[in-house]
Amino acid sequence: MLKNKIVLLGITGGIAAYKSAELARLLIKAGASVQVVMTDHALSFITPLTMKSLTGRPVYTSLFNPAYGSATIHIDLAREPHMFVVAPATANFLGKLAAGLGDDLLSTLFLAVEPQERPVLLAPAMNTAMFENPVVRENMERLRLRGFELADPDAGTLACGDVGKGRMVEPSQLLQLIREKLVSAAGVDYRGLTVLVTAGPTREPLDPVRFISNRSSGRMGYALARAARERGAHVILVAGPTALEPPPGVELYPVVSARDMHQKVMEKFPQAQIVIKSAAVADYRPAENSQQKIKKGRALTLKLVRNPDILQEIGSSKEKRFLVGFAAETENLRTNAREKMVRKNLDMIVANDLGQEGAGFAVETNIVQLLFKDGRVEALPRMSKYDLAHCILDRVKEQYGR
Ligand code: CTP
Repeated sequence: MLKNKIVLLGITGGIAAYKSAELARLLIKAGASVQVVMTDHALSFITPLTMKSLTGRPVYTSLFNPAYGSATIHIDLAREPHMFVVAPATANFLGKLAAGLGDDLLSTLFLAVEPQERPVLLAPAMNTAMFENPVVRENMERLRLRGFELADPDAGTLACGDVGKGRMVEPSQLLQLIREKLVSAAGVDYRGLTVLVTAGPTREPLDPVRFISNRSSGRMGYALARAARERGAHVILVAGPTALEPPPGVELYPVVSARDMHQKVMEKFPQAQIVIKSAAVADYRPAENSQQKIKKGRALTLKLVRNPDILQEIGSSKEKRFLVGFAAETENLRTNAREKMVRKNLDMIVANDLGQEGAGFAVETNIVQLLFKDGRVEALPRMSKYDLAHCILDRVKEQYGR
């Protein structure tokens, strides 16, 4: 999602400046280019060399430096970025921004930034008493009204030892806010649509302490739910057991077994126009679920019975819905995936080659091929599951309603 995006990261003089190094790293990892501008006070907390090493770009710190080769560096820097972030943003910086003052490079370049045109995210960080100061509050309110987004600071122990509100939002959360701002700037193309996503493994109980399951972590489905929500969809997420934090704003239904998932999906799918089934549903369950713990004996033979094929069932009554399935394969990827697409009456299938490193279950990335009903195949490079989620949604949007 952040590929080819340029983010200007302003750093002002607060102890949280050390966290902006982590934010830059996360942005770069997500595919963005990061241009850092630091204030004089920020230089007391973190060095330009740190930021230059992380971003691979020169770091700008002053309005007048002949080495920059431009007398209008404040304007040049304001032209390129898709988004502006200031983290940490001190009370002083917020005050200058609210008052329209430009007495250093960062504040001056912001005079050339229009928050209605390109998103701006400010991450205030300061002592609680400063944060509660009516003048500071008034400044923040004024900035909000002008279209600046402020990341409400966390409460906790502050650098001065006080406990209260004022800690800068963690870099991982800032990254998420940046993504959301960039996505909404690009348009909420799923607004008005309901997307049902299934995620994670299922667990098939054997007795009160044991179950049969698989290696699915739920990451792919959660990334799809998050991405669809960011793009404006109403998202229904039916998820087997995972250790993941649910994405904000989605209607989540945790389930355990394939039969639970089947029941919930059949209840909910009529509301959805698009169904994406990324769950790794167990095809079989133990024929008996013992009420008591099975005691060990000499040998144990398990009898398994078939679970319902949820996707196939939806496929047979899909009407105008757009159905996306996943195929996890260890051999004959395309042939098997295409056979599943036809058998389950799907519009698209995401074929996962489990044999490749960096693909499949319980890893952060995936390498897939997208197969379409009209016979087309698109092989995608290795990418994060979140980026892949957006790619899948791009293709679904192109095809849906055709
Ligand atoms: N699926 C489902 N219900 C099942 C099994 C699978 O809805 N009982 C869905 C999965 O969520 C996935 C697709 O069907 O979107 C393909 O799953 P996969 O396990 O790859 O295929 P199967 O149909 O189970 O075939 P096989 O295990 O023989 O490869």
